[in-house]
This record gives sequence, C-alpha cells and structure tokens, in this order.
Amino acid sequence: MTQPSVPAVALAQIPFHKTPISEEDVDAVAQVLRSGWLATGPQTTAFEQEFAGYLGVAHAVAVNSGTAALHLALEAIGVRAGDDVIVPTLTFTSSAAVVRHLGARPVLADVDEASLNLPADEVQRRWTPRCKAVIPVHMAGVSCDMPGLMATAHARGALVVEDAAHALPTWCGSKPAGTYGAAAAFSFYATKTITTGEGGMIVTADSAVAQRARQMAFHGITRNAFGRYQSPGRWYYEVDDFGFKYNLTDVAAALGRSQLRRVDELWKERRAIAQMLDAGLSIVPEVQIPYRHGGANDSWHLYIMRLHVERLTCSRDEFIDELGHLGIGTSVHFIPLHLHPVYRKELGYRVGDFPVAEREYARMISLPIWPGMSTDNITRVVDAVAQVARAHRR
Ligand SMILES: Cc1ncc(COP(=O)(O)O)c(C=O)c1O
Repeated sequence: MTQPSVPAVALAQIPFHKTPISEEDVDAVAQVLRSGWLATGPQTTAFEQEFAGYLGVAHAVAVNSGTAALHLALEAIGVRAGDDVIVPTLTFTSSAAVVRHLGARPVLADVDEASLNLPADEVQRRWTPRCKAVIPVHMAGVSCDMPGLMATAHARGALVVEDAAHALPTWCGSKPAGTYGAAAAFSFYATKTITTGEGGMIVTADSAVAQRARQMAFHGITRNAFGRYQSPGRWYYEVDDFGFKYNLTDVAAALGRSQLRRVDELWKERRAIAQMLDAGLSIVPEVQIPYRHGGANDSWHLYIMRLHVERLTCSRDEFIDELGHLGIGTSVHFIPLHLHPVYRKELGYRVGDFPVAEREYARMISLPIWPGMSTDNITRVVDAVAQVARAHRR
C-alpha cells in the first residue's frame, strides 16, 4: 500500500451522505405503524396526489423503487421485445437494465462534456430503425435539454421517458424536469433528495399510461375487474396480465409525504452547500467545479467536481484515497455502463466506444452534499481537497 502524501487526521468522518430525518418524519411513520394498515393504502394515495400536485402533473403512481418506476414507465408506453431504446452510458445500471427486462435492447450513447447529459445530436447519431424510446437522465439534478430531445425523438416517432431519479426539484425552462416526456421516473432511495428508504414514482400526463403502470405494479390486477363483473365478494379479483409486485407500502409513503413537505427547504440547504463548495473550490487550480444552467434550477442531488488530472501527479483514484485518509467520504457517479462486464459481453461494447464519458469519468469525484452538513464540515471538505491538490501539484 502506498503511503498517503498528506497526514491523516483524527477528526470525525464526514460521510458521503447522511439522510436528513426529522422528528416529523419519525412521527409520520410511527402513526402508520400504529394504524394497523401497513401495505399500500390511504398514505400511498395521498403521497401520489401530493407529488402530482407538487410537479403539476395529472398522474403519479407510487412504486417501491426508481428502477421499478422506469421499468413500468417503459412497459406502459409500449416498449417490447425487439425494440431499441437509447440510454446514456453515464448512468446507473438500472436505466438500461429495465430495457433488457422488457426484451428490448439498450443502445448506449455518449454524453455532453459540460452537463454530463445526453445531447440531442448524440440521439441522432445513435438512431436505429427500431428505436422506440429515449431515456434522458438528468445527471446530478442538472436538467437535460428537454425541448431539443423531445423534438429529436418526436421527429422520428419515438417516445421519451425521463430518468428523473436525481431531479427533484429540477427545472427545465418554465417546467419541472419530469413533466416533458411521455412519462418520468423519480427515485426515493435513501441518498436521494427526498426519501422513502426505497421507493419511486412514475409521473405522466397520459391517463392510459398511468392506468397501465398502476395495473402492472400490482400483479396485473385491474381495478375495473372488481366492478365489471359484479364481484361476489371483497375477496374476488381478476388478473388481466402477468404483472409485477412493485407497489409502495403506506409505511414508506408516510415518510415520503413528510419529506415532500420539506422538499423546497431541503433543496435550499443543498444549494447553499453547493455555493459554499463552489466558492472554496473555484480557487483551487486543479479542480473544476460542477456545471450548472445559469443558477437556480438544479436539484443539487450530487456535487460532482472534476479534476484537471493533467495538473496533478496522482490519479483520481489516489485523490479519493487521500480524501478518505482525511476523513472525507466520496463517491463516483457513474462508472460508464459500457465498461461493465455484462454490457461488454451481452451487448458488445468496448473500452473506447464513448470517449467523452470515459474521459470525464476518469476525473470526477462526488463530494458530500447533504442537508444538515455544518459550515465546519463544508470547510473541512474544501480544505481537504485543496490540501490533496497542493500535495500533488505538478
Ligand atoms: C440515474 C438513476 N436512475 C435510476 C436509479 C434507480 O433508482 P432506485 O435505486 O430507486 O431503484 C438510480 C439510483 O441510484 C439512478 O441514480
């Protein structure tokens, strides 16, 4: 093992993420536990209505992960075996894995160097005659060019499903991210901007898409079946398709409702932390601060700084190790999909296929950004980055 060039310090670890849980969150969950109704029920319905109201969309369907939301959204818009779906390579594996689960083929695409998002011209470049859908990912909470992507997809007869796992709240022009495509998928995983522990939401303006997603989220059982056949009792149900078990519990939904009440407050906290990190890091010549769209419209789910590796004597990985020695938790978002074994073996991708994603991946580090981070913690993060950069200045 190589010796760190900066001495380790005996300070408390600053984790990469710490979920902000309030006493109201705890009370909301406790109330459901005491109510006797833990599965999908009134809390879930209320969460769906409040979430739809927050975004200003007609329909929201709560499910038990962001991955489930993406899977159901694609299924509901009609992605089937034999279709192609364009997905950026710089994303989490579930953005593309769900395409495979439907028997379709993920067609990977490169990203824009500045925003790390899928650009419309790359969609044109990767287009195939079987392309049924495009999945833009709002990386780190920075909005994709939705008007450009929508125009490009529609001109060729494809639909758009937004991967909005990072994008609450993100604005794209005058509308929230997640309200452009035929459907969008949000994630409420523990590290996301609001959480239900595990959870997700499909949003759509299309009632048929919402109805299909709701049916397939719960075993393919249709609500209509109850009325249609004048059921002999409350125990009676009919299964119209081979569905999934993706419904959200009321325990989780109660936490989601409580967190949603604070979504703007939590966002302001993350934005303030981002501004402090920017101010401290913009004077470190070896570091590039995150991209933004002229200010106030990013969710700040992640703070992805990039290293000017040519100005350093160490690699990104060594930089991460040294931050670790100084007590700073970090992560990397993401290892490009085409570098993972299954994407190479099953889909034939190779190192070198997406040069922008590969180059940016090799120099990115996600720093801690979570509501509740103290000024002292933020200063420690900045000082640690500056210290490691100074120690490895070329
Ligand atoms: C871009 C992106 N899409 C989808 C997901 C899947 O969300 P979940 O973990 O809730 O299934 C994630 C989760 O990390 C993500 O980062």
